[in-house]
Amino acid sequence: MSCSDPRGISLGPRQIADGVYWVGVNDCLKDLFESLWPIPDGVSYNAYAVVGSEGAAIIDGVDEHLTYEYVEKIREVVGDLGRVKYIVINHLEPDHHASTPRLLELAENAVVLVSTVGARILESLYRVPRERIVEVKDGERVSLGDKTLRFVYTPWLHWPETMMTYLEEGGVLFSCDAFGSYGALVRGIFDDEVDLDYYLEEAKRYFSNIVFKYSKNVLEAVDKIEKLGLEIRILAPSHGPVYRKRISEIISLYRDLSLPKPCARATVVYGSMYGRTEEVVQTIERVLERSGVSVDLVDAARTHPSYTLSLVAESAAVVFVFPTYDASVFPPVREVINYLHVKQAGRGRLAAVVNTFSWGPSAKEAVDALSRAGFQILEPVVSTKSLPSPEDRRKIEELAERLSSELRKFGSCA
Ligand code: FEO
Repeated sequence: MSCSDPRGISLGPRQIADGVYWVGVNDCLKDLFESLWPIPDGVSYNAYAVVGSEGAAIIDGVDEHLTYEYVEKIREVVGDLGRVKYIVINHLEPDHHASTPRLLELAENAVVLVSTVGARILESLYRVPRERIVEVKDGERVSLGDKTLRFVYTPWLHWPETMMTYLEEGGVLFSCDAFGSYGALVRGIFDDEVDLDYYLEEAKRYFSNIVFKYSKNVLEAVDKIEKLGLEIRILAPSHGPVYRKRISEIISLYRDLSLPKPCARATVVYGSMYGRTEEVVQTIERVLERSGVSVDLVDAARTHPSYTLSLVAESAAVVFVFPTYDASVFPPVREVINYLHVKQAGRGRLAAVVNTFSWGPSAKEAVDALSRAGFQILEPVVSTKSLPSPEDRRKIEELAERLSSELRKFGSCA
């Protein structure tokens, strides 16, 4: 899977249901999603055209630099852009709607449909004239003649204004960021056309980077969709594959990631400047694995936090092992702690801390920061000066044993 594959750069419009077309684009130019998260295989911005007997609606858009390709695809399926009645904004973020001002210029008869909260932000974000903004309420429907769009408010996925749009006649749920994944669409757009295992892994990383903080809202949204009894025949997110075969799998994945069932799994996040701290890591790994705990090791200096967050999201405990650097926590490890504070705070997970130093400890800085991020700190916090003494080694083993015994209470991971 490579975004540089020419087939990954420009897929034509694709019909996904009767009168419904994928008019999205692949972004193979960006290196970082949100200027934060690596996307070595690119990302897709999925947009859709719903063509009814009395006009067309465009569901979401694309980032600004790909507007031309998006508009040309809309022309291909709609014909005259004057037939576009609505541009639906499920979520305002520029990766979906930096293209909208240009489409509004070209589609002169169109108005945007947006949630109440979205309408408040839209005018200032994209300078859309007030007279071309129409607020839609939760549950409201609009007609395209033989097609009906229904709006479902699903706030805080991951902005306050987010909603989904449901096409009643086709059973298509346009979910925007929810159920999305990194990765350009290289070999097709449907779940049964692509290497779905790759996209499901990238969906986990996407979830842990973008949505994890709003897990409660994800669960509320999934519950709401289920309670409404919407029959979903096609699940059409705005990033990654369109689901027609394995819809329940991606919905279950989101539910499981939002409410992870703790199991005996730990991530060890470490930094080692000269290899000595790594020896401590090996001791901890050995003790944990001996007692049946699954362990992922992350060399923080050589792993982008995007990937670390994905592993930590599925772990009941995190062990931080790091040297002191300039009287502070080794910067790559400190960076992971900062990211956890911003993106995954308040889950009550366990953290263990081992600090190695030559002339000044920094364990307290890590403990304080982790406590603020909502971690429970497992005792003993271990600080070792220079080469670990036999007493230090005993403490490290004791810490690992205690962690094993806490994690084993959850049972092994499936
Ligand atoms: Fe894909 Fe929140 O934008």
